[in-house]
Amino acid sequence: MATLELKQIRKTYPKAEQETLKGIDISIDSGEFLILVGPSGCGKSTLMNTIAGLENITDGEIVIDGVDVSQVEPKDRDIAMVFQSYALYPNMTVRGNIAFGLKIRKMPAEQIEAEVQRVAQMLQIDHLLDRKPSQLSGGQRQRVAMGRALARRPKLYLFDEPLSNLDAKLRVEMRHQIKRLHQKLNTTIVYVTHDQIEAMTLADRIAVMKDGELQQLGTPKEIYNQPNNMFVAGFMGSPSMNFIHTMVDLDEQQRPVIKVKGTHNQEHHIRLPDSMRRQDGQNVVIGLRPEHISESPNPDSQASTQLDIQLEVLEPTGPDTIAMIKVNDQEVACRLAPEFDAQVGQMATLHFDLSKAVFFDANTEQRIEF
Ligand SMILES: Nc1ncnc2c1ncn2[C@@H]1O[C@H](COP(=O)(O)OP(=O)(O)OP(=O)(O)O)[C@@H](O)[C@H]1O
Ligand SMILES: [Mg+2]
Repeated sequence: MATLELKQIRKTYPKAEQETLKGIDISIDSGEFLILVGPSGCGKSTLMNTIAGLENITDGEIVIDGVDVSQVEPKDRDIAMVFQSYALYPNMTVRGNIAFGLKIRKMPAEQIEAEVQRVAQMLQIDHLLDRKPSQLSGGQRQRVAMGRALARRPKLYLFDEPLSNLDAKLRVEMRHQIKRLHQKLNTTIVYVTHDQIEAMTLADRIAVMKDGELQQLGTPKEIYNQPNNMFVAGFMGSPSMNFIHTMVDLDEQQRPVIKVKGTHNQEHHIRLPDSMRRQDGQNVVIGLRPEHISESPNPDSQASTQLDIQLEVLEPTGPDTIAMIKVNDQEVACRLAPEFDAQVGQMATLHFDLSKAVFFDANTEQRIEF
């Protein structure tokens, strides 16, 4: 267990035109599970490689347990990692691969075998221990790489998409195993994933990156409910948060309102908090998640608005039905109960729970705080 501080990490690859990491600041507590997400090419693996010491940083400081390791050799950083391009030792069996790090550390043979059995069972590869990597499937190899990391007790684990080659069912099982392992050992973990559920369920905190910059660092709830900007709001959640462009008006009593318009131009004025008065005449974007638009009103909501709207597309997913509608002539997804007898083309009365909405400045794309 260790703390990890990334201070103003900058990285420019040789001959690259652009900086890949543009000053990343993240402090990770001992025992914390940090998930790193962001679009392909935003610099996640680069950041992981710099922490491991496989890439030099151009500027900044990497501090593990209070010690600046920026110039320390990878092997001396006491980090176990599973990377996107995991390399197994081809001439060693699965057992040999998992045991390798323990042998180097001169662990007694009996203890090594017990440890190998433990992680192999956890990763469901105990029947493969005598095979060579070439005799394994992609997903099996990935689990061996995982096993090799988990057999050790390093200061820090780095996982770069460790479950990407597994089928859906195995992925869920491995996710549970990792969660259990973390709860038991309370190790410090930095973990990259493209999987929303993995991010939301495993993370103590999520770091969202874009173009080499940190967009937000927060708990899964903060990232989901109070996104800093439209990028973060649109990145986390599936289907994505709806963005409805509109303008702030003042009603006769000079109270701030916005207009939303459904099918047949049926219009609704929605009152906003008084502090929004200063946005008068400004373009704002209402951010509302699909689950906050549904066929039945949320009984706890203070601000539910109903509109009669035509259902244009229906996608039954099993646990719910995603319906596409138009609000202010913009495509909006909503989440209906599967029991709701929805038909394409039919009008439905939908409830918009605006107490859950977030608002963004249409120009800066930053969230407006009240
Ligand atoms: N060795 C390298 N030399 C030059 N540029 C590189 C090198 N490695 C990565 N890059 C560039 O740096 C940027 C970030 O790459 P990186 O692999 O960190 O992205 P990523 O966020 O991990 O993406 P993905 O989700 O696809 O794995 C990309 O534009 C990539 O082309
Ligand atoms: Mg990557």
